[in-house]
Amino acid sequence: MTATTESFELVASVEPEIVRLMDEHRERRQHWYAHDVVPWEMGRSFRDEPWDESQATLSPEVRTALQLNLLTEDNLPYYHAKIAGSFDEGSPMAEWSRLWTAEEGQHSIAIRNYLLATRNCDPAQLEDERVATVTKGWTYDSPCPVEVFAYTSAQELATRISHRNAGVKADCEIAHEVMTRVAVDENHHFMFYRGVTTAMLKQAPGSVLNAIHQVLANFQMPGTGIPNFNRRAVAIARAGIYNLRIHAEQVVQPLLRHWRIDAIEGLDARASELQEKILTIPDTLIAQAEAFEARLSKRDARTAAGA
Ligand SMILES: [Fe+2]
Ligand SMILES: [Fe+2]
Repeated sequence: MTATTESFELVASVEPEIVRLMDEHRERRQHWYAHDVVPWEMGRSFRDEPWDESQATLSPEVRTALQLNLLTEDNLPYYHAKIAGSFDEGSPMAEWSRLWTAEEGQHSIAIRNYLLATRNCDPAQLEDERVATVTKGWTYDSPCPVEVFAYTSAQELATRISHRNAGVKADCEIAHEVMTRVAVDENHHFMFYRGVTTAMLKQAPGSVLNAIHQVLANFQMPGTGIPNFNRRAVAIARAGIYNLRIHAEQVVQPLLRHWRIDAIEGLDARASELQEKILTIPDTLIAQAEAFEARLSKRDARTAAGA
């Protein structure tokens, strides 16, 4: 979808709602400090005692999830550029992009400090991968501002679930607390972006259905440029931290229900077609999830037979 005058006007038309949602966010979000939850007392010098994998206390798949989630957070400069660059300086969205960026910044601080203090990552590898990730950068093709809201609605919810599940599967109270704090922030961001999308959907359902379709039919997490993304994503999928089934059942379906996509009436032919297409996305994703699960169990059966 191109960035039409109409799409900018649509965002401008819901500015009072953007301001209201931002005020609500400021009241609702609980301020927290990463230094209150990171176990600094566990920290030791890497110079005196170099890192060794035997020092790690978390399972390999949870470490993979935390590192992938952290590297995704590390690419914040590019997300900021995308969001801030999509809206006029001085607009409520420019104000939101600064507030949101400040809050997001703490996520990488908290997760990195936790991983380093507890020795649950190779510090040199983590830094090399951060540099590789940020050097590669991240782009999101569409210049359409309406798509920004559809994308961030799905992405913040997906991130909330991925962080939360990584914390739950960590089997470590401190990791759980760190990841819960981060996930709660993502949930508040999600509510903001979803709220703006909801307001625009009421104003111009055709344009917003187009944006939702573009985003959800080809959804990609922002971390795809991270080194070994596919291998890591499979490990996380296998561990039940984030996978296609979770994406379909806990991200796409709840969003479509919340936006009541199936109940939107009075659409023209093109918008009706988009509405139908959007409603088939969960089934397509579930079919892909089933195929993935079948491949995994076949592989596990082969491994078991060979063992
Ligand atoms: Fe985040
Ligand atoms: Fe977020």
